[in-house]
Amino acid sequence: MEIQRALAEERHARELAALVAADTGSRPPGWRLSPRAVVDFIVGLARPIAHPDGELVQVERKFYGDDALVERAVITLTTSRGLMLVGEPGTAKTMLSELLAAAISADSTLAIQGSAGTTEDQVRYGWNYAALLASGPSMSALVPAPLYLAMEQGLLVRFEEITRCAPEVQDVLLSPLSDRLLLIPELAGAERIVQARVGFNVIGTANTRDRGVSDMSAALKRRFNFETVRPIRDLKLEVELVLQNTNRALAEIAVPVRLEEDVARLLVTTFQELREGITREGDRVDCPTTPMSTAEAVAVATSSGCHAHFLGSGQIRPDDLVRYLMGTVLKDDPEDRERLVNYFERIAKRRAKDNPLWKEWSDAKKWL
Ligand SMILES: Nc1ncnc2c1ncn2[C@@H]1O[C@H](COP(=O)(O)OP(=O)(O)OP(=O)(O)O)[C@@H](O)[C@H]1O
Ligand SMILES: [Mg+2]
Repeated sequence: MEIQRALAEERHARELAALVAADTGSRPPGWRLSPRAVVDFIVGLARPIAHPDGELVQVERKFYGDDALVERAVITLTTSRGLMLVGEPGTAKTMLSELLAAAISADSTLAIQGSAGTTEDQVRYGWNYAALLASGPSMSALVPAPLYLAMEQGLLVRFEEITRCAPEVQDVLLSPLSDRLLLIPELAGAERIVQARVGFNVIGTANTRDRGVSDMSAALKRRFNFETVRPIRDLKLEVELVLQNTNRALAEIAVPVRLEEDVARLLVTTFQELREGITREGDRVDCPTTPMSTAEAVAVATSSGCHAHFLGSGQIRPDDLVRYLMGTVLKDDPEDRERLVNYFERIAKRRAKDNPLWKEWSDAKKWL
């Protein structure tokens, strides 16, 4: 049976191989590509480049928005400071960290998923208790975790949602980041210390909505450069992204329906106006407490595509999208329903007067 989602380095294997072949820039020690080529991998290239097998490969844009942020992120990773990507949910922090690890280390799998239950063992190393009891602490009883493996192999390690972990678990990163070593007090001799190889560094992600759950210590913050990833504000760009991601997601699950640009524009306009609290014409609207992220727009559109295919007309119409809108918007605060209905009654209804598509959008209010 097929797997559901390939790793970033597998999905983009041909692009990466072509970039490695074409890369003439200088590479930081332990890196598989130069910083220039890593940036190109993430923001895309205008012209195709040659794969070692002779075929031309188009390096696609993967992250839409602030290219300067991508450059700073890559440069930070060449230094001895870690990179911390912070921002609202669904702004592609995880995606960016995966792409960086895939391009720089050719391996995006060394990842720790932070949660309230994350323990130090899951970050650095743990023990195989049967082996530990049978023969005491030794390398053969040690179970390396992502931080250990990344240091030992000179790779990037990703720490997802770091602020959801207890502070003492977060602080396991302190000596790997400042002294580039990890101490294993249970072992003796040379095995007691793991010294990081060149290429090792840390990418953390943190959700601003989780701020305060477990704030990072000042000592740890000082060892990271922080980059804030913001939602996309450009309508055209976000429409393009929603189209691309939705249609890719539908193709992956073998649903033959495609989202069209004019329908996508309705959805994205609504998301942007609700996110920012103001319409194109300058009317104030009440923002729902749920983040109206691009990722959520893609989720609504993908569900609508499945609805259209399995239960509907075989074409994604505004009506199909509105059916799945409430499932995204209504999460914690019951008043978010009112906010969405209000937008449809005031803004969508007014635009419906001279725009048939907005009329369909406004008429679909019955599903809210
Ligand atoms: N600026 C962007 N460029 C490209 N894709 C984006 C962008 N913003 C959002 N996306 C889409 O949103 C998806 C979700 O992003 P991702 O899971 O990486 O977000 P996140 O910031 O890690 O969210 P969370 O804080 O909830 O973990 C991405 O896989 C991508 O399809
Ligand atoms: Mg994430």
